[in-house]
Amino acid sequence: MKIKSKILITVIILIYGCTRMAPETTTENQGVPGCTPQFPNMKVTYNNYVKKVITRYCINCHQGGNSPGPGNFTTYSGVRLYTDFFAVRVIQDRADMPQGNAPLPKSTRDSLNIWINNCSPEN
Ligand code: HEC
Repeated sequence: MKIKSKILITVIILIYGCTRMAPETTTENQGVPGCTPQFPNMKVTYNNYVKKVITRYCINCHQGGNSPGPGNFTTYSGVRLYTDFFAVRVIQDRADMPQGNAPLPKSTRDSLNIWINNCSPEN
């Protein structure tokens, strides 16, 4: 097993352990219905983080109309329609988005990953 995977697994176990001890928090979640947030203590939301990333790196190609990329990523609901594809196309180490460029910085991809695993909340 690669050292990276070992670190990742350790981190996941640590986070899981900590969240299990934390009292149940019921936060409003406007994300995917029926989805359970995997990192409930980490507040990565569309409004506080994801929107900035998408605006900077993606909407030049994904804004509807004649733009080359599918969808319209200028709104929360527009982005949400495509979050199922993010793991492969945006988050993994060999992601091919943003098209024609290197994948996003690792820390940015990690944060997007948390957002998606937390059911992609808006706020
Ligand atoms: C230079 C233009 C360009 C940029 C910048 C770009 N994309 Fe794309 N994207 C495309 C095109 C064109 C496609 C459709 C062809 C394909 O799937 O490769 C696409 C496809 C996708 C898909 C798959 C959609 C589907 O229906 O399968 C996702 C998800 C995606 N892009 C996300 C992003 C994200 C997130 C960003 C910013 C980090 C981004 N893209 C930046 C051009 C771009």
